[in-house]
Amino acid sequence: MTHGKTTRAIHGMREDHNRPVTYPVYQTAAFWVESSDGFAHVNDYNAEEYFYSRYDNPTLRNVSQKLAGLEQAEECLLFASGMTAITTVMMACLRAGDTVATSSALYGGTLAFFRDWAPRYGINVCWLDEDQLYQVDQVVPTAKVVYFETPVNPRCDVLSIRRVVAAARKINALVIKDNTFASPINQMPLALGVDISIHSATKYLGGHSDVTAGAVMGSRERLAPIFSARKVFGGIPSPHDAFLLDRSLKTLEIRMAQHNGSALALAQALEAHPKVKQVLYPGLESFPGHAIAREQMTGFGGMLCIEVASLEAAKAVCDHLQIALNVAHLGGPETMVSIPVLTSHSMLTPEQLQQARIAPGMVRISVGLENTEDLIADFQQALTYA
Ligand SMILES: Cc1ncc(COP(=O)(O)O)c(C=O)c1O
Repeated sequence: MTHGKTTRAIHGMREDHNRPVTYPVYQTAAFWVESSDGFAHVNDYNAEEYFYSRYDNPTLRNVSQKLAGLEQAEECLLFASGMTAITTVMMACLRAGDTVATSSALYGGTLAFFRDWAPRYGINVCWLDEDQLYQVDQVVPTAKVVYFETPVNPRCDVLSIRRVVAAARKINALVIKDNTFASPINQMPLALGVDISIHSATKYLGGHSDVTAGAVMGSRERLAPIFSARKVFGGIPSPHDAFLLDRSLKTLEIRMAQHNGSALALAQALEAHPKVKQVLYPGLESFPGHAIAREQMTGFGGMLCIEVASLEAAKAVCDHLQIALNVAHLGGPETMVSIPVLTSHSMLTPEQLQQARIAPGMVRISVGLENTEDLIADFQQALTYA
């Protein structure tokens, strides 16, 4: 019998020795062997035994297995942050002379890696817009990796996963997707043909604004070189952070249901507000990518973006919110706002901002778990200052 997502996220590995209900924190740097022959499998991916916590640790393995189950992956590897996950995957999958085709609409840290770092190692980066991604086989036929996000930060634009995968297949390119904004509850990229799915677990997976981590999901074969790279680059989370993630996964599905419901209610309320020029939320019928979102998402998520008259108006809204916090973060229980031109996209030139359709008056909202009516009232009072 296949259990539901929450059942699987609650019941992970069991520790038979003392039978604790919560899986323990193995706060140890290393594990001793009974005999020197015990080191026979020290370099094996998927070794049954544990040797050194930079390679693997039981508290991490419990979480990895749960996450793999949630996203229908064979395997999952945990990382010390979302950025460590992304950069380690790229360094493991690409070498000098290879070409990566990527979307020009990306999280700022990922964009900085492709723009400032990948070329230093001889990796060619081709920046594509949505339509070019759908024809990546014709636009960049030499691409070894196709990398993208959907929904995209901060406008929540939705790209068709199916179309990107279909084009990439024609040239045998590896498809890697950041699934942070959706979470495995709202979107299952591997089931849609993506090869490797990456999360900043700092966001919804961690879900309490108290842990920095990353996760990479895919087949055992695809993850083997990434496991080797993680061992060498060393970007693995601490056992305590893995323990916090385990705690968080138990409530992931019910948290996402609340994020989804509140975000839709807030988006609808703000759509009707005279000071709001536009509301971008995949769950709204007015949203340009709504049909694609319906096709590939089972929930529309907790992220939305509104536009008011100007940067000054956006600042006035953010500075008058009483519940929501003005912070460059998302996916926690606290509702959070940020002005993209001042935070996540501050490194873009005015021309790049225009190309990415990011207006100075935009406010990105990560809808938290507070009572929905309190949030709507908070934004309505703050908008009077816009
Ligand atoms: C979509 C997305 N991917 C990756 C990251 C990087 O994650 P981390 O901050 O855990 O390194 C972020 C961080 O905000 C993000 O929003």
